[in-house]
Amino acid sequence: MNKYLFILGNNYELSLIEILNYFKKNNITIINKIYSNIFLIIETEEIIKKEIIENFGGVIKFCKFIEETKKINSEKLVNLIKDYNINEKIFFGISIYNFDTNINKIGLQVKNELKRNNISSRFVTSTQKNLSSVVVQKNKLLSNRGFEFVIIEFQNKYLIAKTESVQDFEKYSYFDFGRPNRDSKSGMLPPKLCKIMINISNTKKDRIILDPFCGSGSLIQELILLNYKNIIGTDISDKAIEDTKKNLEWLKDNTEIKINPKIEKKDVRNLDFEKESIDIIITEPYLGPNDFNPKNIKEIMEIKRDIEDLYTEAFKNFKKVLKKGGEVIIVFPIFKNIHNEIKLIHLDLLKNIENIGFYENNFNKEFDLNLKDFVYSRESQNIYREIHKFIKN
Ligand SMILES: C[S@@+](CC[C@H](N)C(=O)[O-])C[C@H]1O[C@@H](n2cnc3c(N)ncnc32)[C@H](O)[C@@H]1O
Repeated sequence: MNKYLFILGNNYELSLIEILNYFKKNNITIINKIYSNIFLIIETEEIIKKEIIENFGGVIKFCKFIEETKKINSEKLVNLIKDYNINEKIFFGISIYNFDTNINKIGLQVKNELKRNNISSRFVTSTQKNLSSVVVQKNKLLSNRGFEFVIIEFQNKYLIAKTESVQDFEKYSYFDFGRPNRDSKSGMLPPKLCKIMINISNTKKDRIILDPFCGSGSLIQELILLNYKNIIGTDISDKAIEDTKKNLEWLKDNTEIKINPKIEKKDVRNLDFEKESIDIIITEPYLGPNDFNPKNIKEIMEIKRDIEDLYTEAFKNFKKVLKKGGEVIIVFPIFKNIHNEIKLIHLDLLKNIENIGFYENNFNKEFDLNLKDFVYSRESQNIYREIHKFIKN
């Protein structure tokens, strides 16, 4: 049996369903799993390669699980390193996640102990309790002479894992900030969230996927990078259509991928595609003006009503163009209202969508989880993004 540990992104609930749905979709059976707000451990008969991390938006580190232990000490780590029988200088670092200990002290003891065993080493440290992907990558900890030990306290024990791969920060940054036509004013879906949304859909690579609020094309770009073949993007705005086309040209010039999505101007309230011709809709719709005043509840309620009307019309059109059993993976905004304390205002739409002819996928039931919600948020923002998956009856 093989045991792997994933370090989850900040919005760990989304990371969990992303990974579990990815395995389900790719017919990888998970025999056992344990999770917390930091990690997921899975046991499987399959061998999982380190490159798997490239598929995920919400995974920070992919690790091989080593063991659980009652005590962390230098001897334990030295023995783990010695098991690899490396005769050259090694590089090692230690990341602890949810407890405190003097890592530097343990690291130096490991280094000295290795020296006594004639193994020269470099101990990689940082100011943080856990090493960032950048530090891990840049300091050879992923090389065949490298070790990053990830240590997590869980149920009065310590879980130890060895990092195999980390999120490719340079690639994310290139494909996000490198695009010529970024539209931060009307809001852009972060590439990592695009990937998460794609991973929680059940679509195969050749299915017809529509983003009817394509904006500047973030989701379409991510679909292309993940090798989806039949992609359609529509938007009501001329500027959005132009931005998307320019960004996709740029992508074509900067990658080997030769997929040509269809990009057309369309109002979501009048999606004139052939009836039942689309397999999946993945989209972040218009979320309302992002400069609203979070202290003004009247303004928020007006925006909320407008958005609810737009989304209701959108779902009526989705019903027409989607095949039976087709999915809608969609972002709903949650508005922050600041009045003495912070109150979160959610859309009231679930009944409407049900009446139109959809049911909501229950991730907790599907994956035997116990999570409250699936929200992508950053503390500094006034709009959070809640992710839903609906299926057409
Ligand atoms: C938040 S942006 C989508 C961002 C996009 N996911 C991205 O990352 O670039 C919302 C988009 O919805 C479009 N939109 C607003 N009302 C629409 C409608 N009735 N039909 C189609 N698109 C609409 C806007 O033009 C805008 O481009």
